[in-house]
Amino acid sequence: MSEEIYSPGLEGVVAGETAVSTLAGGLQYRGYAVEELAQHATFEEVAYLLLHGELPAAAELKAFKDRLTDAMTVPAEMIATLKSIPRNASLMDVMRSGASLLAHWDPETADNSHAANVRKAERLLAQLPVVMAARQRLVEGQEPVAGEPQRSLAGNVLWMLTHLEPSERAIKAMDVSLILYAEHEFNASTFTARVVASTLSDLHSAVTAAIGALKGPLHGGANERVMEVLAEVGSADQAEAWIHQALAEKRRIMGFGHRVYKTGDPRAVYLKKLCGELARETGHEDMEQMAEVIERVVTQEKKLPPNLDWPSARLYHYLGLAVELYTPLFVVSRVAGWSAHAIEQLDNNRLIRPRSRYTGAAPRKFVPLASR
Ligand code: CMC
Repeated sequence: MSEEIYSPGLEGVVAGETAVSTLAGGLQYRGYAVEELAQHATFEEVAYLLLHGELPAAAELKAFKDRLTDAMTVPAEMIATLKSIPRNASLMDVMRSGASLLAHWDPETADNSHAANVRKAERLLAQLPVVMAARQRLVEGQEPVAGEPQRSLAGNVLWMLTHLEPSERAIKAMDVSLILYAEHEFNASTFTARVVASTLSDLHSAVTAAIGALKGPLHGGANERVMEVLAEVGSADQAEAWIHQALAEKRRIMGFGHRVYKTGDPRAVYLKKLCGELARETGHEDMEQMAEVIERVVTQEKKLPPNLDWPSARLYHYLGLAVELYTPLFVVSRVAGWSAHAIEQLDNNRLIRPRSRYTGAAPRKFVPLASR
C-alpha cells in the first residue's frame, strides 16, 4: 500500500484528470474563458461545447437545437407522478426524483456507450427544465406550459414557468446565469457524478446522485439561502450593523467563500454587473445597495469574497422567480457539466475508490450476546 496522505475534505487533492474545464488562470470551459462565453455565446453553444468538445458550427448548432426541441417533453405518466408528489416536497427533491424517473422512459438508459450517453445528456438538458417548470406550475395550481421550438432554452425556461412573454433582457440574464453555472471542474456534485459513473452505472444515476449533492447549502443550495440572508437584513441602512453582528456570532454567510477561489470568484464578478443593470431596470436598487454593504464588510473583515451564488440569487429575484427555483435552475444548467464529466470518466475509466484513515476502536474480542 502506498504512503498514507490525508487532506480533510480532499482539499488540494488532485483526484483525477479532466479536459472539460480548469480554474487555473481564470475559469475556462474547454479552453474558452467563461467571461467570453458569457458575453458572446448562448447557453446552447456552451452546452454543446461541454458535451461535444468544440463550439458548434452554425449547422451543428441548428441540429443540436432541433434535437433539444424534439426532447423538450416528458411522458404523461411523469406529469401524473409530479402531481402525486406531496405539495410540501422541495423542488430539489422533485428534480432528483425527476432525473431518476426519466431513466425509466429513456430508450437508451442501459447503453453506456459514449454516443448513447451524449444523446441521453442532450435529452436530460431538454427534459429537466420541463420537470422543473411543470412541477412549479402544478404546485401553484396551474397547468404546465409546453416549451416552444422558436425559443432558446433560457427563453423556454421563463416561458414554461410564467406563460408570459419574457423580455429580451430577462432572456439574456437567464442565459448568462445558465452559462456561468454550467461547469466547474471537480466540485462536489460533479465529483459525485464521476464516482457513480466510475462504477459503470448509468448516466441517469450519475445525474440523480449529483442533484442530491448539489442540494446541500454548502454547494448549490446556497443560492436559495442567500435570499434568506437578504430578507433577514431587510434594508441597506440595517446592513452594516446586521453583518457585523452576524460575523461576531460566527454565522456562516451564504454566498461567500469558496474552497478553491480565495481572492475572488470570476463568475460572481461577471454576474454582479448584470445584476446591477437588472436591479436598476426593475426598481431593486435598495437590495443592490444592501448587498454591496454586506459584500464590502465580509470581504474586508473575513477576507471572503462572494461566490457565484451571491449575485445569482438576486438576479433570479429581480427576474421575479420564486426562491425554490434557484437551485433547480442550477441543475438545469449544470447537467451539461455533470454529463460531460461522467462521459469523460467512462472514456478512460478507473473505479474511484479512495482509502480512509481508521479512527475506530482497537482490535477487540467478540462478546457473545448473552454476555453483553
Ligand atoms: N461565512 C462566514 N465564514 C466563513 C464562510 C462564510 N460564508 N465560509 C468560510 N468561512 C470561514 C469558516 O467559518 C472557517 O473559519 P474558522 O477557520 O475560523 O473556523 C474558515 O472560513 C474556513 O471555512 P471552511 O468551511 O473550512 O472552508 P471551505 O474551504 O471548506 O469552505 C465553503 C468552502 C464554500 C463550504 C464555505 O466558504 C461556505 O460554507 N460558504 C457558504 C456557502 C456557500 O456560499 N456555498 C456556495 C459555494 S460556491 C457555488 C456552489 O458550489 O454552489
